[in-house]
Amino acid sequence: EDDDHITPPTEYGDIISTLPSINYLGRWVHYQYQGGWVIHQRIPGVLSFQRRFTPRPGDVLLASPPKCGTTWLKALSFATMARAAYPPNSAEHPLLRLNPHECVPLLDDLFSAGQHDKLEALPSPRLMNTHMLHSQLPSSVADNIDCKIVYICREPKDMLVSLWHFAQTISPIKFTDVFESACEGKSTDGPIWNHILGYWGASKTSPERVMFLRYEEMILDPVDTVRHLARFLGLPFTSAEEAAGVPANIVKLCSMETMKAVEANNIGTSGIFLKFPHKSYFRKGVVGDWVNHMTPEMARRFDSIVDDKISGSGLSF
Ligand code: A3P
Repeated sequence: EDDDHITPPTEYGDIISTLPSINYLGRWVHYQYQGGWVIHQRIPGVLSFQRRFTPRPGDVLLASPPKCGTTWLKALSFATMARAAYPPNSAEHPLLRLNPHECVPLLDDLFSAGQHDKLEALPSPRLMNTHMLHSQLPSSVADNIDCKIVYICREPKDMLVSLWHFAQTISPIKFTDVFESACEGKSTDGPIWNHILGYWGASKTSPERVMFLRYEEMILDPVDTVRHLARFLGLPFTSAEEAAGVPANIVKLCSMETMKAVEANNIGTSGIFLKFPHKSYFRKGVVGDWVNHMTPEMARRFDSIVDDKISGSGLSF
């Protein structure tokens, strides 16, 4: 089936038809909605989520722009939250037989596909993921004291390179096209600066509810990240767990090396609409790969656009 020709459910047709749209990379129609560009297959999901999502105390929402370490964060959060039932060094661990995207649902897709009943069946505390911008979250989530949000972002040039490689797995695209669009603020769930600034602001206002992570910091000290994450989620490691090396075992279980060796990460696809090979979620996992794809001039140009957009926020890359 050609996903480009899936029409959005008519339920939201009247709203969607009023939204500005672009044909991103000449390939994927995106709609501008509440500060972000949403790919056409997911816009009904965003609208439905805003109307239908029923939060439950203890819900944990992982939020991210695409290609910023979502898969890694899903694995780390799942392993941390499920560690009582599944110790991270267990040979029976779900992450050794399932791709992390099979353990943590993407709400944007789930709601678009009308499969949100699946959320009701999840035991509490539920762990879910979204690429929605903070400005797109309904207040039942954004202002909910009982719903924690863990956000991950990444150095924007590395994100672009990762996005290009990922898109290449389903369609031939030139890097310069991805780059030029991004300079204009056009990317899936972009502009990237809007995405980052929304959650950055929320994490400053409500640090007990919104945790702001950066891929580069996680790469530097993943064990410490897991400790912070566990504490933020209200599940700090006990001294017995520390002595048993549980945080380090979680990091090892979720490492690129372990994940790449898992069969489930080498076969099959994820995504309800666009189907990406599980394998395509695990590439290099390094910081600074942009140097292999951008000239210094391109880097300067993009940096200055991003710097300008985020200036005054207290954030820098
Ligand atoms: P690269 O393309 O730069 O290698 P997302 O999960 O949001 O789609 O982001 C994908 C990026 O995270 C890819 O970056 C991928 O290699 C990296 N990644 C995936 N799993 C990882 C892991 N376990 N540890 C570190 N990075 C990981």
